Amino acid sequence: MTRLFGVMGHPVTHSLSPVMHTAAFRALRLDALYAPFDVPPRVLKPILRALILAGVEGMSVTVPLKERVVPLMDRLEGSARAIGAVNTIVVRRRRLIGYNTDGPGIVLALRELGWRAGPTRAVVLGAGGAARAVAWELMRAPGSVVTIANRRVARGRRLARWLSRACPRSRAHARALREVTLAEVELLVNATTVGMQAQDGLLIDPTRLHRGLLVYDLVYHRQTALVEAARRRGCVAANGMSMLLYQGAEALRLWLGRPAPLAPMRRALERSLQRRSIVHGQ
Ligand SMILES: NC(=O)c1ccc[n+]([C@@H]2O[C@H](COP(=O)([O-])OP(=O)(O)OC[C@H]3O[C@@H](n4cnc5c(N)ncnc54)[C@H](OP(=O)(O)O)[C@@H]3O)[C@@H](O)[C@H]2O)c1
Repeated sequence: MTRLFGVMGHPVTHSLSPVMHTAAFRALRLDALYAPFDVPPRVLKPILRALILAGVEGMSVTVPLKERVVPLMDRLEGSARAIGAVNTIVVRRRRLIGYNTDGPGIVLALRELGWRAGPTRAVVLGAGGAARAVAWELMRAPGSVVTIANRRVARGRRLARWLSRACPRSRAHARALREVTLAEVELLVNATTVGMQAQDGLLIDPTRLHRGLLVYDLVYHRQTALVEAARRRGCVAANGMSMLLYQGAEALRLWLGRPAPLAPMRRALERSLQRRSIVHGQ
């Protein structure tokens, strides 16, 4: 029988998960279907129930449902419990187990760029859901110092306070974007939506980017102005495609109990992003 998986969000048409997971199933010669489900928040509970009854084995969860699915889980694992957001659901005997694979996703993406896990001095731009997942993952290494720089500084301060409580062996601060200094910093992560539009500029002064700084932009739609400026300044820099790949690979491993076929998944993502940039002229 065909095995059933999917992604739910609202809207969901932008999601690249169907392309990536369909390529994985094909490479694994698995009789499985991965479908997008547009789920408005007000019908989340009945639709989730219906999907379970239909035999869905696993789901990805995207905006704006990552926090809303939390109370519907029978169990939360690892970072999903810590950060209160689920991006992957595993269904076992009709029970729902919530995971968050964004943390492992960024760690593997940074390792690919030569980053060594351990105490890190980092600046995270943004204070939304992605910033929370990334900063928490970095703060897990005792002795880390993470600065949250957000447009709305009060929101940044709230996240920094939460991080300090959640990871007491590391330190978190909040700064206004214009106050960001990078001199003592090894890692800069953009976890804002700035860069998603082709015309988006930079949130920080590019002359502060220095050789030896690793720059990672979670935006995966293109090489952003930040990535380009960082490379011009001699930094190692990449956009968020690799994180998208690795968080998806980790979800697949949780669903199937076997390693994901990374190469065909990466090729499918690259092809799809290239096609979109041609269609939208970005
Ligand atoms: N590569 C991956 O696998 C991956 C995974 C997850 C997310 N992402 C990407 O990460 C980004 C953030 O996602 P999210 O879920 O965290 O979004 P979110 O919760 O809506 O947070 C958006 C963040 O962007 C900031 N922002 C928005 N417009 C801005 C502007 N004009 N100037 C300065 N800051 C601005 C917001 O600041 P305020 O608080 O001041 O509004 C907030 O900090 C998105 O691009 C998403 O696609 C990528």
